[in-house]
Amino acid sequence: MAAHLECTLLRNHGMSTRWLLFSIFFALACSRAGPPPDETEEASLQPEGWDAELKMAEAPDNDPAQTVVAVNLEARPTQLELRPGVQTEVWTYNGTLPGPLIRAKVGDRLKVHFVNHLPEPTTIHWHGLRVPAAMDGSEAMQAPVPPGGTFDYEFTLLDAGTYWYHPHVRSSAQVGAGLYGALIVEDPAEPKLGDELVLMLSDVSLEDDGTLSPANQNGWFGDYFGREGNLVLLNGKPPRTLRARVGAPQRWRIINAARTRFHKLKLPGQSWRRVAGDGGLIPQAQAVDTVTLTPGERVELYVLPQPQPGGPVAFQSLDADRFHINALQPPVDLMTFSVTDLPPPEKEAPPLPSPLRDIPATDVTGARVELVKLTEQSAPGGAVMGINGKTHHESDPLHAKVGERVIWEIDNTTSYDHPFHLHGFFFQVIDVNGKPPALREWKDTVNVGAKQKARLAIEFDNRPGMWMFHCHILDHAELGMMGMLMVMP
Ligand code: C2O
Ligand code: CU
Repeated sequence: MAAHLECTLLRNHGMSTRWLLFSIFFALACSRAGPPPDETEEASLQPEGWDAELKMAEAPDNDPAQTVVAVNLEARPTQLELRPGVQTEVWTYNGTLPGPLIRAKVGDRLKVHFVNHLPEPTTIHWHGLRVPAAMDGSEAMQAPVPPGGTFDYEFTLLDAGTYWYHPHVRSSAQVGAGLYGALIVEDPAEPKLGDELVLMLSDVSLEDDGTLSPANQNGWFGDYFGREGNLVLLNGKPPRTLRARVGAPQRWRIINAARTRFHKLKLPGQSWRRVAGDGGLIPQAQAVDTVTLTPGERVELYVLPQPQPGGPVAFQSLDADRFHINALQPPVDLMTFSVTDLPPPEKEAPPLPSPLRDIPATDVTGARVELVKLTEQSAPGGAVMGINGKTHHESDPLHAKVGERVIWEIDNTTSYDHPFHLHGFFFQVIDVNGKPPALREWKDTVNVGAKQKARLAIEFDNRPGMWMFHCHILDHAELGMMGMLMVMP
């Protein structure tokens, strides 16, 4: 116990060189002492190094306070080897692709000191987080940070879940160049479902010589159809191997950070249960065979590895057929899932809690209905996209009042899917074409299929200001399918 105290004290102490030797000494002592009796976190049940090929770099927390997480993020061009033997200049946060994983606990204060070393202005948007409007990083609330400039983001993390961050200036180009990172908000009161792995999906377009294709590749066609890269990346890498052990559960937190690509995920021979969506745990675990993740969306899957008589399998991304043309592209391998021959853990995995979480329905009886039509308008040089017939730059903001509950009816009048994202507020899907979803959950991004109508229940809690909403096919957002919402105090 005493050894544990000292260890904790030292871990929390600023690392001056004077302390470094002491820390090394105590770290050794700590590791020898074994986990303290009051440590609730159980050791991993996975094979050694199970996630070593996929683990993302984590942002160090440089504030010793228990409830403050302070990180530095620097956007800068970086040379990385994405294709064997070829260097590609991409844009990164802190030199890694994805940017560093930020980990915090619900209720923590997050402080991000941001420095822009890109040759153009940028901001950071905290996708899915209920931040104050001034911290949202959208062009509606923040002057972009110029090259060489800095900005300090600071807010309290209100909700546990899987989130991500990305620029909100020329977002299609900047996200497409590599600017995105994961942000995990843990809730210590949540049951431990399995050993955790964060997986970020994206893609890039590379030319034959390894350089990144121009952000505006194929001009209007590129915008209209959306740009899918020719190299799919999982945690910034081409397919790597993840190891597992029969009976030792894993919790995968998956984020689709691609500018356009939909991912229809499949893990052959294994059973999956979906346990969380955009905004944390869902009420009941859901058995699923495939999961479609449109840009911006998140999912958490519970994997209880089964024996693999046929050997390792590929975790795959199938064509989600977002154009509804039935000419499917072949599946893309994301990683190899390899169940080792380690015997199952002695203790059987406990059944998943039921319910996983209570989510009360947002009561919208008698609420005002806001019509939000996703539209296409002809324009010189090709169609543009918009909301209610107007591109982002022509449109006037919608309005709502703090405390108000509203039904948003998202009416996709076009022939293609559009993943609809609202900044700053979660919503509940009431129904899609009149059909309620299988279960209630907190969403911030929802795919509205071609010619579909989705009704969303939204409560505007006390965070007034200007917010944005848009199609998260970022090429579509740039083509005009983006609007603003003024939440009045
Ligand atoms: Cu993921 Cu407007 O953003
Ligand atoms: Cu779209």
